[in-house]
Amino acid sequence: MAIPYVVSSRIPVTAFSVPVEKATPMKPKVLVTRMLPQAAVDLVSKQCHAEVNRRDVRYTKKQLLQRLKGKVGMVCLLTDTIDADVLSSNPDLKVVSNVAVGYDNIDVPAATRHGVMVTNTPGVLTETTADFTWALITATARRVVEGDRFVRAKKWKEWMLMGFLGRDLYGKTLGICGLGRIGTAVAQRAQGFHMRILYTQRNRDEAKEQALKAMYVDKTTLLRESDYVVILMLLSPETRHYIGRKELQMMKESAFLINVARGPIVDEKALVQALKAKQIAGAGLDVFEREPKVEPGLLRLQNVVLAPHIASGSLETRTKMACMAAENCVAAVTGRQPPNLVNPKVLEVK
Ligand code: GLV
Repeated sequence: MAIPYVVSSRIPVTAFSVPVEKATPMKPKVLVTRMLPQAAVDLVSKQCHAEVNRRDVRYTKKQLLQRLKGKVGMVCLLTDTIDADVLSSNPDLKVVSNVAVGYDNIDVPAATRHGVMVTNTPGVLTETTADFTWALITATARRVVEGDRFVRAKKWKEWMLMGFLGRDLYGKTLGICGLGRIGTAVAQRAQGFHMRILYTQRNRDEAKEQALKAMYVDKTTLLRESDYVVILMLLSPETRHYIGRKELQMMKESAFLINVARGPIVDEKALVQALKAKQIAGAGLDVFEREPKVEPGLLRLQNVVLAPHIASGSLETRTKMACMAAENCVAAVTGRQPPNLVNPKVLEVK
């Protein structure tokens, strides 16, 4: 394919030459759908012509379709729905680079069909997300947020031996659904609490089991025996409502459910019912079925801790994620294979 050229006007003219205008290749055009840390915008802008949404507000579908015209790359967030309509709207599009490790906001099979590379940001958010998982576990088990509300409301009159009693972590059983990178980092931290670690997932990983002293069990055993059930799997058609009424009934009355993966993995209505009926002791949620909408029943319950999808949200990590996504995008639009390609099959399509 011929590369279009633009002309630079700042060329010195010598006595012996007719003015020769030095040509520089035209930069590939990229859409950045939402405000990013400046370091990431700079990375894209160095090699691409970047159109950046400077407002921290997502584009409507109509705006997205309009802005995408003429672009060969897109850096987007998990709040952008990149469906078959979007992917088929621009035949020049080469890459959709998601600033997230999860990519359920993108129709990956449709992207592959249209020859569009999809990339994500694995690795850089693992430790930060594991830290936050523990923040949510401890806050939920030890009623930190409830206690904070109580103190601020000036309701605290006296130290109470039996006030705000939570549940221990030390020596308890942690059940991890999805022992991937983040699940592993969560399990490593559990060693400090001397916890028994159970995990469940499609395939057993014996090397990890040994390293983490974790036990592979089926889903039912994990739900029946764990004091803390932590959801750390990817959202897919198979994992939608992985935790519903039946699963919540299997959990202990003293157990907590923690979700830091994706909201639709848990049936929120069933969760509200289980919490109200005290079938389980509490829940810590960083993600919701219809973000940013939260099932109203959850808002009325004291035994849940709710966070606005911030598990990877440290300044350092969000900056690393944005820069990684920028690099993935730049690689793809400058003819290299991006390091974090989710759909390598696309290379066969192109
Ligand atoms: C955040 O939720 C991510 O998938 O990176």
